[in-house]
Amino acid sequence: MMHIKQQLAGLMVAMACLLLGTVHAQTPAPKVESANIMDVEKGSDAAAQRERAQSQPGNNAPFWRAVNSDEAHSVTIPNKEAGVLIQKSGQQWRLLRNGVITVFGGWLVTIAAFGILFLYFLKGPIKLDQPPTGRKIERFTALERLVHWTMAYSFVALAITGLFIIFGKHVIMPIIGHSAHGIILYIFKNVHNLTGPIFTLCVVVFFVMMVKDNLPQKGDLAWLKSGGGIFGHVDAARFNAGEKLWFWLGMTIIGLIVAGSGWVLDMIVPGLSYWRGTMQVANIIHVISALLIIVFAMGHIYIGTIGTEGALDGMKTGYCDESWARQHHGIWLDDINSGKIPASREPENGPISNIAKKIVRTTT
Ligand code: HEM
Repeated sequence: MMHIKQQLAGLMVAMACLLLGTVHAQTPAPKVESANIMDVEKGSDAAAQRERAQSQPGNNAPFWRAVNSDEAHSVTIPNKEAGVLIQKSGQQWRLLRNGVITVFGGWLVTIAAFGILFLYFLKGPIKLDQPPTGRKIERFTALERLVHWTMAYSFVALAITGLFIIFGKHVIMPIIGHSAHGIILYIFKNVHNLTGPIFTLCVVVFFVMMVKDNLPQKGDLAWLKSGGGIFGHVDAARFNAGEKLWFWLGMTIIGLIVAGSGWVLDMIVPGLSYWRGTMQVANIIHVISALLIIVFAMGHIYIGTIGTEGALDGMKTGYCDESWARQHHGIWLDDINSGKIPASREPENGPISNIAKKIVRTTT
């Protein structure tokens, strides 16, 4: 009898345990595996992360939140940035570069191009108001022309390859396809990276050679007030105020900003730490300044070529016609005629000047 009683008690305990177990299974404590991703606490502990990795692999919110927190974790590899696996501001950089800058930059370049076309067809080039006399005035030395041409060619190469790098995937890729776009992009990117330092060198040398004649002079304000000759003729010195503005604001300031940020992107600035943030900031500065200088240079190239009759002669041959000099740089011509400035600055037999003469003679 005693034996049966003991058996019944054991059975009841077992049933109670079973019942309790079932109840517990029906109302589990809220664990990370069953919680809404958005409700899982930020920075949940490692055990919770392991549990989520098992129960919902690839959907481990606590883990990815930690990865995406910008917090630097410790690593033993030499890469100083590997402790931050995902750098959050990279997403902001991507949105800025591929969004606002690409859209507004694209419109800026397009509007500038159409504006110049419009000006050309509506107003036409600035003609010589007197027929050429045939008397030639030395405008640029061989070295000045060599540096200007090298700067011009390297700039055009940088502008074409740079515009392809920003807008190619939106404008060219839909026409030529992924593969052709990829090959051109690869070539253009390398041409761009190698040409940047050449352009920089030209800007620095050109600045040193020309700064003396680009200092503000008394006729400059009057030239600007006349709208560059639109509201009446004003004599100018060797360079007019428009050229001086392009020299200082365009070539020197924006030119050095675009070149300097390019050197950072090329990773050739000695002693600089190339963090991801450094590259993102350099990239934004580079793209904005590049788009600005491209737009200004479009205007400059138009005025220096088809926009002004006779302007390109000085760049091509080193000489301009006397009529052109009288119309555009009257003060300069008077100074030459009065002997105040030398009629020729070309050294007869300087070693650098001889090399420059040979190069410009064969290439222009
Ligand atoms: C295809 C490209 C280019 C052409 C055809 C061109 C042509 C010319 C011409 C014809 C002049 C006028 C010279 C004169 O007054 O007699 C000039 C001046 C000038 N160019 Fe260019 N240029 C080009 C590119 C550039 C670039 C890329 C820069 C700089 C980023 C530049 C900077 C200057 C400056 C600063 C002057 C004024 C000279 C001075 O103030 O010292 N040029 N250019």
